[in-house]
Amino acid sequence: MGKEKRGLIRNFVDVDHADGEELISRLDLLQSLDFFQNYKRESFERMGAGPGKHLADIGCGPGDDVRKLADLVGETGSVVGFDVSESMVEEAKARHAEASLPISFKQSPAHNLACPDQSFDGVRSDRLYLYLDHPLAALAEAKRVVKPGGRVVVVEPDLEGVWFDNSLCSTTRKMIHALSDSVPNGRVGCQLYRLFRDVGLENIRLDLCPWVTADWALFDKIFHFRGIAEAAIAEGELTEAESDQWFGEMEERKRADRILGGLTLFLVVGQKPQ
Ligand SMILES: C[S@@+](CC[C@H](N)C(=O)[O-])C[C@H]1O[C@@H](n2cnc3c(N)ncnc32)[C@H](O)[C@@H]1O
Repeated sequence: MGKEKRGLIRNFVDVDHADGEELISRLDLLQSLDFFQNYKRESFERMGAGPGKHLADIGCGPGDDVRKLADLVGETGSVVGFDVSESMVEEAKARHAEASLPISFKQSPAHNLACPDQSFDGVRSDRLYLYLDHPLAALAEAKRVVKPGGRVVVVEPDLEGVWFDNSLCSTTRKMIHALSDSVPNGRVGCQLYRLFRDVGLENIRLDLCPWVTADWALFDKIFHFRGIAEAAIAEGELTEAESDQWFGEMEERKRADRILGGLTLFLVVGQKPQ
């Protein structure tokens, strides 16, 4: 298979057949933003990260969250990063090669993790379930690998809830639908609470983490709206004229400093029954 088109978020479904460097650079950009650092810190707390804990990050990407968790668990704890992508696991190992760290990385799909039952005190996944065809199978697997009383944390957006200020409302709706439909599971954020209940997790808590930005270049780098529009045109869901008008307005707004957009992440934690 040839390399998937640059920039599209659906490439995270199969990083090894896409432009891995571009995807990693996008993850690095997100890691550098205050909003991402803040909700990630919140998710570490929700999973009970602390000295001596044994934790896992499922869909860990280049492993920077695994590294941060390692600082929290200290030398008496451990952290495992799982990712289905060979190139992500290689990058994670290369980045965090210090032998003294209590961390390891395994190439493993979220629905079939290479580890025994009840291995961890807590597990988390951060923007993984968007890319899964069977989110319930992955959540059941997360539950399998935590100890009784252990915590499962998942953070995901609902891509239908991405928003921005553009007067062309009908085209904006089409763009948002196209964005949401570009991945297997674009609406998973709002489904997590139900999925946690379906899989038998207890003491479920849901927090919403809203992000607002006036930086169109940043927003566009994350979602690559040109690619989304091209796909929607190819599917007959959007016309060239609608697309040109819509991007034209965005350019005008950028020049006039009149951009605003955002999204909401759903941060859900549940506990495995004792
Ligand atoms: C958007 S990235 C998020 C990475 C990291 N959690 C972060 O917050 O930066 C999604 C990651 O999920 C991985 N992934 C996609 N499908 C997967 C699957 N079925 N099982 C495990 N990992 C998967 C991708 O390879 C990618 O590294």
